[in-house]
Amino acid sequence: MQEYQTFVTHLECSATGKRYEADRVHGLSEAGKPLLVRYELEGVRRAVRREALAARGGGFWKYREFLPVRRSADVVSLGEELTPLVELPVLAARAGAKSVVVKDEGRLPTGSFKARGLALAVAMAKAFGIGKLAMPTNGNAGAALAAYAARAGIETFVFCPADTPEINVREIALAGAHVTLVDGLINDCGKRVAEGRERMGWFDVSTLKEPYRIEGKKTMGIELAEQLGWTLPDVIFYPTGGGTGLIGMWKAFAELEAVGFIGAARPRMVAVQAAGCAPIVRAFECGAEHAAPWQDAHTIAAGIRVPAAIGDFLILRAVRKSGGFAIAVDDAAIQSALAEVARDEGLLLCPEGAATYAAWRAALADGRVGGHEKVLLFNCATGLKYPLPPALLT
Ligand SMILES: Cc1ncc(COP(=O)(O)O)c(C=O)c1O
Repeated sequence: MQEYQTFVTHLECSATGKRYEADRVHGLSEAGKPLLVRYELEGVRRAVRREALAARGGGFWKYREFLPVRRSADVVSLGEELTPLVELPVLAARAGAKSVVVKDEGRLPTGSFKARGLALAVAMAKAFGIGKLAMPTNGNAGAALAAYAARAGIETFVFCPADTPEINVREIALAGAHVTLVDGLINDCGKRVAEGRERMGWFDVSTLKEPYRIEGKKTMGIELAEQLGWTLPDVIFYPTGGGTGLIGMWKAFAELEAVGFIGAARPRMVAVQAAGCAPIVRAFECGAEHAAPWQDAHTIAAGIRVPAAIGDFLILRAVRKSGGFAIAVDDAAIQSALAEVARDEGLLLCPEGAATYAAWRAALADGRVGGHEKVLLFNCATGLKYPLPPALLT
């Protein structure tokens, strides 16, 4: 594989701004907050042109100058592709809107956008010679970790809530991970990882507890901008659990502007949550900087059943700075959105993706989004990985 110039200068605490050395193993900052990777963006600007990117293959790996992996030998790949933008013309017309487009992340290896973040985390673990990775997961992240780590020859320890969809648990186990089912939610799984960290010698790849998953998720923003001819939509609806994708895209847009690929205009970022687990929506609405943990979290959209997110303040900051908002939709709305998009457009969404469609319809109805706006919804996983409703036979 071809070598690329890389531009990481240091890492930075997202809360205090304290600098940390690059090319060292890092978890959270001393303040217990996520670390963000910083680049010499002037160097990126000189090294890569938009036209050169257009000619490259390799899915999200083509954005190497924006990524932290130094040596091509550390890249771990399962044949990534750019994920398509799928118009929903019938449903846009029905809603009285000009257009609505879905970025369908279900086409990535292991069937979800988690491939982006975990490919990067595993590649960096490989570069650092880390031999054991552990994480809590609602399913999709664990599947991506297990697959990319299998490819890199790294041992993995994965903790899932006991009610994680069976297909995810089996997929993770088949990729050779040690899987443990935990009687509780993802935060309880996170505690199990923390307990074993010292004793078992695991490196913790929980959402935002290591610096590189967000760099992988950042590629959603770069890819989207490139697909839209280096412009951005007016509004992005993103199903928000830990929020890595939303934070990552927001970071991507700043970096793209710094290298002159896009202008200063930004989409309004909308954090979509489930009514049964909406800590970010509650914090957004009461003007809080942090989100209090949500009690008794429940929703069919397992990926966004995250009662407490370590990057809560980063999600809220990006949403507010963009002029966006946070919105919750209930499971009945998610189910009917999923059925409507499948029936009328032939696109099978995952429940989290269906939540973004339901949220868009609700925001159109209450006037928070206009019919003239260019709207983009994220479908973060293939609907085929979830229990489907029974068929109504004729
Ligand atoms: C399908 C799906 N959508 C959305 C999310 C939430 O993603 P994030 O952690 O970036 O908020 C997840 C996370 O597990 C997921 O699996």
